[in-house]
Amino acid sequence: MTVTGETIVLTHDAALRWMARWDRQQEGYLPDRETRFTALIDAVEALGRPDPVVIDLGAGPGSLSVRLLERLPEATVVCVDADPLLIGLGRAAYPQLRFVSADLRTSGWTELLGLDRPADAAVSTTALHWISEPDLKAIYAELATVLRPGGLLLNGDHMDVDDVTPTLSRLEHEVHRLETERVFAGNRPEDWQTWWDAIAADPDLAELNTARSTAGADHRGSESHLLSHHVGALREAGFTEIGTLWQRGNNRLLCAVRG
Ligand SMILES: C[S@@+](CC[C@H](N)C(=O)[O-])C[C@H]1O[C@@H](n2cnc3c(N)ncnc32)[C@H](O)[C@@H]1O
Repeated sequence: MTVTGETIVLTHDAALRWMARWDRQQEGYLPDRETRFTALIDAVEALGRPDPVVIDLGAGPGSLSVRLLERLPEATVVCVDADPLLIGLGRAAYPQLRFVSADLRTSGWTELLGLDRPADAAVSTTALHWISEPDLKAIYAELATVLRPGGLLLNGDHMDVDDVTPTLSRLEHEVHRLETERVFAGNRPEDWQTWWDAIAADPDLAELNTARSTAGADHRGSESHLLSHHVGALREAGFTEIGTLWQRGNNRLLCAVRG
């Protein structure tokens, strides 16, 4: 079976194997990735709707969305990402998910989502730190136009506080470093670059990998690691209550309620 663009290029089993390897690679940076997924999904469930509409921002191949759909099978989950290879992997591994190819930095991305009612939640994990502060403001402002009042933004990512509480910030980094060391005890999973090198070496993925380079999907540029950037951008976008729902070191689950 092959898909390019909207078509699948991998067998389901091969895609699931790549997904297991993706999850393991991501865990190397976030030993409590699964715990954070669970806390985030708990918050969506706590909204009290069995059929929420949820947008996953920078969903990658859909690790969070697939877990959300397992918990809330009546949910509508829309995965947004700009990386053709990760979307291709996700489509092949999780046909139950809907992927939309869009760069969140391009205004009008919400028009591509095909929502038939305002969303109950927007979720994101380990993705929005790629985005510069001005782009983050625009993204949250556009997001607010498709979230219902009382709807949630739930963003799990490393967010730092060194601009306001530098001693705490150093401690948060240390907590994260010590936890990672303890969990993996010198046996860390493969890193980001090794995973991408392995992808590049798989001939079945050559076409998607080429599409990835053409799309310039490595997104490098100025980045927003500061909690204050997120909080400021969310306030400007009309989110009212903003706070941390779960935290381990500088790994936070930020929650904001649309006013
Ligand atoms: C480290 S991955 C995390 C993927 C997934 N959320 C997870 O937790 O496994 C970061 C993702 O953010 C996406 N991303 C970064 N910048 C983006 C942008 N401007 N528009 C859309 N997606 C973006 C990348 O393509 C990538 O899939």
